[in-house]
Amino acid sequence: MTVVLGISEASSDSSACIIRDGIILAAIDEERIRRIKHCGGFPELAIKEVMRITGIKPAEIDRVSIGYKEILLPLYLKQSILNQRSVKLNPINNWKDKVGIQMFEKYYSWSHSSKFLKWVNYTSTQNMIKRSLSKLNIFAPVTRYDHHTCHAATAALTSGWERCLVITADGRGDGITSTVSIFENNELKKISESTVNASLGNFYGGVTEAIGFRYGDGEGKTEALAAFGKETKAYEILKEFLKVDGLKIKGKLDPHYRNISILFKELLKDFKNEDSSYAVQRVLDETITKLVKNAIKETGINKVAFAGGIFYNVKTNQQIYEIPEVNDLYIYPASGDSGVSIGAALLDIHLHNGVSNKRTEQVYYGTSYSNEQIKSILSKTEFTYEYIDDIGAHVGSEILSKDVMVGWFRGRMEFGPRALGARSILVSPKKLENKKKILSTIKKRPEFQPFCPSIKHESINDYVINPKKIEIPFMVLALEGTSKMVEEAPATTFIDKSIRVQDVKEEINHEFHSVISNFGKMSGTDVLLNTSFNKSGHAIVHTPEQALTDLKYGGLDYLVLENYLISKNK
Ligand SMILES: [Fe+2]
Repeated sequence: MTVVLGISEASSDSSACIIRDGIILAAIDEERIRRIKHCGGFPELAIKEVMRITGIKPAEIDRVSIGYKEILLPLYLKQSILNQRSVKLNPINNWKDKVGIQMFEKYYSWSHSSKFLKWVNYTSTQNMIKRSLSKLNIFAPVTRYDHHTCHAATAALTSGWERCLVITADGRGDGITSTVSIFENNELKKISESTVNASLGNFYGGVTEAIGFRYGDGEGKTEALAAFGKETKAYEILKEFLKVDGLKIKGKLDPHYRNISILFKELLKDFKNEDSSYAVQRVLDETITKLVKNAIKETGINKVAFAGGIFYNVKTNQQIYEIPEVNDLYIYPASGDSGVSIGAALLDIHLHNGVSNKRTEQVYYGTSYSNEQIKSILSKTEFTYEYIDDIGAHVGSEILSKDVMVGWFRGRMEFGPRALGARSILVSPKKLENKKKILSTIKKRPEFQPFCPSIKHESINDYVINPKKIEIPFMVLALEGTSKMVEEAPATTFIDKSIRVQDVKEEINHEFHSVISNFGKMSGTDVLLNTSFNKSGHAIVHTPEQALTDLKYGGLDYLVLENYLISKNK
């Protein structure tokens, strides 16, 4: 029996997981517990939580695996301090942080120009992590793995495929920004990599920041806004920055995203934000699709697995889907940097013991609460509540048909950024006003951003055009909706008729399936609008108390905590 603690600890999206004998027992994003969106640094609370969930004692951990080979010392220190203070990282508004960023950039170029500084960097951060782990009584050997290999491991080792292409792309990790690998004979073999001046993450994030959204968080807004733009010279300007040459992406980008965003702000100042968004989205789509086509042509492999933050872009993923040569594709659901805790641990087990490669069907790896715990919490509040045995059926047929907003907090929390029916806000998708209701209350975000539909598996083909029969359980791929979808669920259909869909199977989440199914029996539509259970700018709720606060002060009408239905006191 081998127990591995996986860790992701860098500038953002820290996380921890426990994998025993190749099975993921628990995984959690640090941001959920600290409630600081995208929080980075050492994931102390996530480690404690995965150990509490699994009951694994510190002495039972055989190895610790980290999803970065090297980590930049000043950035690590800064993140750790910020986490201690529980404050938001918002460097652009703070002069001290501006100075810090400049020092970091200087240090970054120095540390890469000198072997000695690289060694100092590595040994000091390695010592720091060992000290941090020792405070938790964890003394197991620590191994750092290359960041993109960890991304690739999440995709390959959970794909369920014996042979596939694996493509990774992100902002930057261990000096690399994208890779192409072949997974065959149980071996992951990298055949190409691209460096920091061809960073797709920095390219897209640079435009995102240049048009007024936040790098590392606002990319979804850029992606949505792109659908409202048109071709202008902005496209010609941006496409000069990236070229695909065989299996490599070559670029002319500055190593630091902030310098890129300053440059793009100047270059794009005469264009509308939607046209700049259109341009950056199109260049990203063309770059990735060309890389995928070249990789298929070179290797003859038509099944492709993806990981890395770039593949949160569901419109790019739709373009990949449309490539005729792609027979099958799999996008790891936690494809951002929190996923490399799982990647590092899987890689470690793969190298030592071998992993039985099974397709990931669900990511309910997080914290859960029993009905007894919920009752105890509720009994100390003023809320009106009742226990309902068949809660899914009741909420689907009796509650959601009233066009109300329901907070749905049941079972183990999802790992990664998507709410998949464990920490979700649900509403009927049949009226566009329901979308506006969410936007004007709990989710104060731009109206152009779409909401996602969760669809009953048995009816999926009525609503989604998916001729390649790709598995779609994780909301990571946009596909075209059918005319039935457009007519029946306008609140979850994007302007171009695309939908970022979750196919909900009964055997994966029985109660969530029951809500959709019973809503369908009442309304004739087996679809629900499903958005993450958080206020704009906040991390997804982690505790029942946080959910109750959103019921009291947010726009929710009802809240489900396990089998308890709680009404908002009027
Ligand atoms: Fe990454």
